[in-house]
Amino acid sequence: MCGIFGYLGNKENSTEMVVEGLKRLEYRGYDSWGLASILQEKPAIEIVKKVGKISDFKGKKFAKSHIAIGHSRWATHGGVTQVNAHPQTSEKGGIAVVHNGIIENYQELREELAQEGHKFKSETDTEVIPHLIERYIELGFEKAFRKALARLKGRFAIVVVGEKQETIMAARRGSPMIVGKGKDEYFVASDIPAFLPYTRDVMYIDDNEMLIIKKNGEKAEINFFNLKDNSEIEKRIVEIDWDYTDAEKGDFDHFMLKEIMDQKETICRAINQDTKEIMKVAERIKGAYGTFLVGCGTAGKVCMAGDYFLSKIAQKHVNFVVASEFSAYHHFLTDKTLMVVVSQSGETADVLEAMEVAKKKGVQILSLVNVEGSSIQRQSDYSFLINAGPEKAVASTKAATSQLSLLLMIAYAVAGKLEEGRKLLIESASKINDMLNPRYLTYIKAVAEKIYEQENMYIIGKGENYPMALESAIKIQEVSYIHAEGFAAGELKHGPIALIEGGVPCLVLLSKDENYQDVINNAVELKSRGGYIIGISPENNEVFDQWIKVPDVNGASPIVNIIPVQILAYYLAVLRGKNPDMPRNLAKSVTVK
Ligand code: AGP
Ligand code: GLU
Repeated sequence: MCGIFGYLGNKENSTEMVVEGLKRLEYRGYDSWGLASILQEKPAIEIVKKVGKISDFKGKKFAKSHIAIGHSRWATHGGVTQVNAHPQTSEKGGIAVVHNGIIENYQELREELAQEGHKFKSETDTEVIPHLIERYIELGFEKAFRKALARLKGRFAIVVVGEKQETIMAARRGSPMIVGKGKDEYFVASDIPAFLPYTRDVMYIDDNEMLIIKKNGEKAEINFFNLKDNSEIEKRIVEIDWDYTDAEKGDFDHFMLKEIMDQKETICRAINQDTKEIMKVAERIKGAYGTFLVGCGTAGKVCMAGDYFLSKIAQKHVNFVVASEFSAYHHFLTDKTLMVVVSQSGETADVLEAMEVAKKKGVQILSLVNVEGSSIQRQSDYSFLINAGPEKAVASTKAATSQLSLLLMIAYAVAGKLEEGRKLLIESASKINDMLNPRYLTYIKAVAEKIYEQENMYIIGKGENYPMALESAIKIQEVSYIHAEGFAAGELKHGPIALIEGGVPCLVLLSKDENYQDVINNAVELKSRGGYIIGISPENNEVFDQWIKVPDVNGASPIVNIIPVQILAYYLAVLRGKNPDMPRNLAKSVTVK
């Protein structure tokens, strides 16, 4: 969560650059924001902090500065107020810190510092950091930062500037942070799009590493250190091959709609993988003594669908576990276990923590990620990039269908039918391309217009459509705030059917498979209690009050079935006056536990 952006270099409008950089990172957190600039004219720090979205800030002219840092917050500790917004500053105000993550021992540190006379202004965990640096400042800025870091427990990415210091210092343990290298300038940010208009040359920072960027006349220098033994580290520069426009919404009103439409192409990109690598992974799954599919939220539902794919297509039993619950299974992990993690961002803290549990037992880790160079990718034994391009809307859409496609193809590979799987997916991708036309969007918008004032919705599915029913509920909840719940179609009669009353919208996800008739019968049960039935199905049925047609793609049907639900969720949000790209209380990349 949260976006961090820092600049040191030869441009003197660094503060404006930070504002623009934070705007590009806003999808990571958007309850409040702030920045600190080291002013060129006088040795002072200028701090600006505001509640609300940085995209609403129309800007002012800032004083000249070559060094500035900024933060767009997703509050964990302390309400959404101007005082709690970052940067947090030291007692005397000369040290400013922006931070992503949680300082787990902040209470203890706060008490200790308070006893020494430090007065705290905010309710944040972050504020202990500038106070700690200040406590050790006699040792010099750099040593004081190192000493402060040594006292911190938890996961974090921290960036610091100091009055009279021509320096930016930063450190990382568990939260994302990347460096961009321009000409005589450096950028430090939570994610690449922040500095993509300026450079594509990036350097990845690993956990327990610190960096110092210094201004040296017209030039800028950077040094990286290992925090464990203070040794200096050499970093490789990696050139990113995506374009800045990939991370822009173009003519679309929202990123969510743009990313839904990107699915015309992303399925093919996801399955365009090296056959040898797919076969290698298939062999691993076949040979593993226990395979666990692990993810959170939408990626978790994808994992659950993967469990169905492997069972149905390859007759292989695997386990699906939500990442935050994974540690409960540690007894079953050995060096013959395989963990398959799925994550769009590659930075989800719950997943990283589950990976730590697995690594202690020598488990091999395969990941499916969208963000190249992300922590999850770098900490995996094998990794596939799903190549969906930047996904910026909080609601995961194209990443989810890309992950589903790749998992389905892997299931076919495990069954020894890779080419059959590839062919099915290529055909499905072409049908998705046809389906995503303006008429289809208008049709679904009209369905949304009929139900957008409802406060409850239920979604049912069976087999691999069951995880998609759960995923549908997440999509609708997070962007429209309608209370939506997904169920296994057969479970309704065991309790949830009591919730159905006249006019309640019920989405029914169907494929033309062995479950079709059972699910239709469950839909009839809902209709008999007054449910308003919206069928998402390749064929019409008399039980439907509304029919949203999807192409018939056999085993790939969960991939096509979820797309109209994404579109429906989008229009429900818009019709209810919500911004689907930035739902309340959420952030794109969940880097806190
Ligand atoms: C999906 O729409 C979400 N906002 C969320 O559930 C997301 O899928 C989850 O946080 C996992 O993120 P990841 O794929 O980046 O690990
Ligand atoms: N824990 C910090 C806070 O609540 C940082 C949160 C973030 O990552 O935005 O202020």
